[in-house]
Amino acid sequence: MLDIQTTATAVPLSTPHIIRREDYRPPDWMVPEIGLDFDLGPAKTRVTARLTVSRNGGHGRPLVLEGETLTPLAVRVDGQAINDWRIDDGRLVIDLSGDDHVIETEVELSPERNTQLMGLYASGGLLCTQCEAEGFRRITFFPDRPDVLSRYSVRMTADKSAYPVLLANGDNVANGDAGEGRHWAEWNDPFLKPSYLFALVAGDLKANRDSFTTMSGRTVELGIWVREADVPKTAYAMAALKTSMKWDEDVYGREYDLGVFNIVAVDDFNFGAMENKGLNVFNSRYILADADTATDVDYDNVQGVVAHEYFHNWSGNRVTCRDWFQLSLKEGFTVFRDQSFSADQGSAAVQRIEDVRALRGSQFPEDGGPLAHPIRPDSYMEIGNFYTATIYNKGAEIIRMIHTLLGAEKFRAGSDLYFERHDGQAVTCDDFVAAMQDASGVDLSVFKRWYAQAGTPKLMAAIAHDADTKQATLTLTQLVPPTPGQPVKQPMTLPIRMALFDRATGESGGEQLVVLDTDTTTLTFDGFAQPPVLSINRDFSAPVVLETNRTEADLAFLAAEDDDPFARYEAMQQLMLNTLVAAISTGVADHAAVIKGVGETLSDGALDPAFIGEAVVLPSDAFIGDQMLVVDPDAIATAREALRLALANAHLAKWQEIYAANGGRSFEYSPAAKGARRIRNVALGYIMAADADAGAKLAFTQFGAADNMTDRLAALGTLANSQAELRVAALDIFYRRYRDNALVLDKWFTTQAVSTRADTVEAVIELAGHPDFTLSNPNRFRALVGAFGMNQRSFHAADGRGYAFFADQIIALDPVNAQTAAKMVPSLGRWRRFDAERQALMRAALERILATPGLSKDVFEQVSKSLA
Ligand code: ARG
Ligand code: ZN
Repeated sequence: MLDIQTTATAVPLSTPHIIRREDYRPPDWMVPEIGLDFDLGPAKTRVTARLTVSRNGGHGRPLVLEGETLTPLAVRVDGQAINDWRIDDGRLVIDLSGDDHVIETEVELSPERNTQLMGLYASGGLLCTQCEAEGFRRITFFPDRPDVLSRYSVRMTADKSAYPVLLANGDNVANGDAGEGRHWAEWNDPFLKPSYLFALVAGDLKANRDSFTTMSGRTVELGIWVREADVPKTAYAMAALKTSMKWDEDVYGREYDLGVFNIVAVDDFNFGAMENKGLNVFNSRYILADADTATDVDYDNVQGVVAHEYFHNWSGNRVTCRDWFQLSLKEGFTVFRDQSFSADQGSAAVQRIEDVRALRGSQFPEDGGPLAHPIRPDSYMEIGNFYTATIYNKGAEIIRMIHTLLGAEKFRAGSDLYFERHDGQAVTCDDFVAAMQDASGVDLSVFKRWYAQAGTPKLMAAIAHDADTKQATLTLTQLVPPTPGQPVKQPMTLPIRMALFDRATGESGGEQLVVLDTDTTTLTFDGFAQPPVLSINRDFSAPVVLETNRTEADLAFLAAEDDDPFARYEAMQQLMLNTLVAAISTGVADHAAVIKGVGETLSDGALDPAFIGEAVVLPSDAFIGDQMLVVDPDAIATAREALRLALANAHLAKWQEIYAANGGRSFEYSPAAKGARRIRNVALGYIMAADADAGAKLAFTQFGAADNMTDRLAALGTLANSQAELRVAALDIFYRRYRDNALVLDKWFTTQAVSTRADTVEAVIELAGHPDFTLSNPNRFRALVGAFGMNQRSFHAADGRGYAFFADQIIALDPVNAQTAAKMVPSLGRWRRFDAERQALMRAALERILATPGLSKDVFEQVSKSLA
């Protein structure tokens, strides 16, 4: 691991510069055209850039081109070499007399030494790029900001045998032989684009080729480029791509605009994927899928991420962001689009449950912690730190609320107007909301507070009943909590879907939408002889923490009767949470209501097995912790295991019946087959809890017999959490079978890192010394260290060894890959939520990171804000 050569960016010894949204100024110079010439090689790549620049406005300021880790080897202005350029904090500064010039620069890069994986780098024999947000400045000197839109022409020359395939944005316009075993290719992109959407890939790749005919009858050539051996694993991604293209035409009226659409899978990637114009680059984990190596969750992720990146072609590329503070303009909208797409491909209810679980699992903690920020932040040190669950997932909830407030038809009119008005422009979130407002006539001025205020609102809903007047009264009160830098908040617009059920008939008068945009309001409902049961925030219509005065009986009623599947799931979750929180605080556990509710759900023949599989799973340790004033990981684990055991024993016969009834079929990827696998594996977990010996045998048999990764990994995970002797054998078999498949080996690391066993800290420390662990591959690092940071039991081991290990890993990774290292910090940043001893240990770990000489600004920002 020490043989990695690093290219860490120089870190200022002083506090990094803070960039503020209010300081936005239009660019001084535009670059209508850029020609790039790459002489490619892994050790040495020469980049010659030719920029036509034009002065923007009547100022006298010089041309300033961003550069990071670059040294100019030559600078020419209008064809003449010049020497009076200067470098200022990495930027190339050139004084220019006229308003229009042609600037040429030459630089040399070393892709194989670029461990940061931003800019041009080498991965598994490929050369590839990642430019969003600010990677282009590591390739060439350029005004690397999203409001500078240029026409790109690209020429690449490379060794023919090592790099037979040369790809870039747009259309391939010419190719030729360069002699000496080298060849070249030229690509032109006819669309104006910001530099963050630039991409090139060179490598020995094979394509799964297909085509798509657009709604106006144009043919688009599709290619998914991977290693030859992986081509069979691209079928699902290709199907997802074609379905996405059709869906965007049907639902948003958006047609693809180039003759080619290429996707490349790379193994070393900091994120999920990247929407470069006409050339998406993917982390291979979101492209490659087959039954033997991918779980059902992996399949769903492939579909969702392929759709997400494809949808960016309109929401992001044709209309882009003016500055990085507007990131949610493209990301929130695009996540909303991919969530809606996925909901249309399978069970909408299960999709919504999963999306809300993800929001609560990652965004709510962010919103309640030291790194809370609005979906449009006011300042940052390093923009890479703002690719967050808030920008993405809360951003999507905000678009979803606009959709709810306007209704589908007006929302579509708004999106049509947005794309029509701003095609080819770099715009702001205000422009998006203005288009929605103008097309619909709905006033969104108060709603816009969602863009400015951080923090998850709390919604209190109190239902009362008067038997004499037969009236029900609902009082809604909201409270937006203070967050760093925002002590006082204004009320938000909350679109609340609700219904009142008659508990005798099980009927409701239908759903209605209540819009709360003041601190509090009271609504009355007539004609209720009996107190009705309140179903509220149906389909999770507003991203809030809900508090109600509903009784256990109300929740049990909704868990069995609610016609909104999400609300039904929620009622059951709330019942479970109430039981767990009561057990933790009083030490006395009463499991009866949950046992009854789960029993009814399990035997409700009308329910989709996939839904049942979600509804009978207990809330996670982390989510239980979020309900507590001071998180007590040990008490949570004890209470949750006790409830699991109670459910396992009470329904053992049922779990066994479900297990038997849903097995024995050969693998098929369909919603029904997926649902069967889901509920069967949930049943396996409960059987294991009730009877460790029988469960271990069952799991080991399933592990050996499975014809798909979902069942194999579920069995392995069950064993990995257990004390069973077969556990070691299963882990060993799995390792030997998949040691050459990096994506599956990641699962082997993660399974052990998230284990609920008491010896997990030692196991993880040992795994960090395993020959297959490396700092150079972000997937592997996240698989072990990132997953461990989510393990609520071992990470928070009372002796602090989990924290210390975690800090060591961040310190080790930072010089190699600062972005990935910085992403780890929030696990420690939650220290305020824990008891005094853990607080001290977590703070000590953060302080040790902060004291590391040469820390990147990425990690510096996250750690210093976490300690503030
Ligand atoms: N735009 C990409 C996507 O959401 C992600 C790029 C991530 N970049 C970053 N600096 N974190 O699909
Ligand atoms: Zn995106």
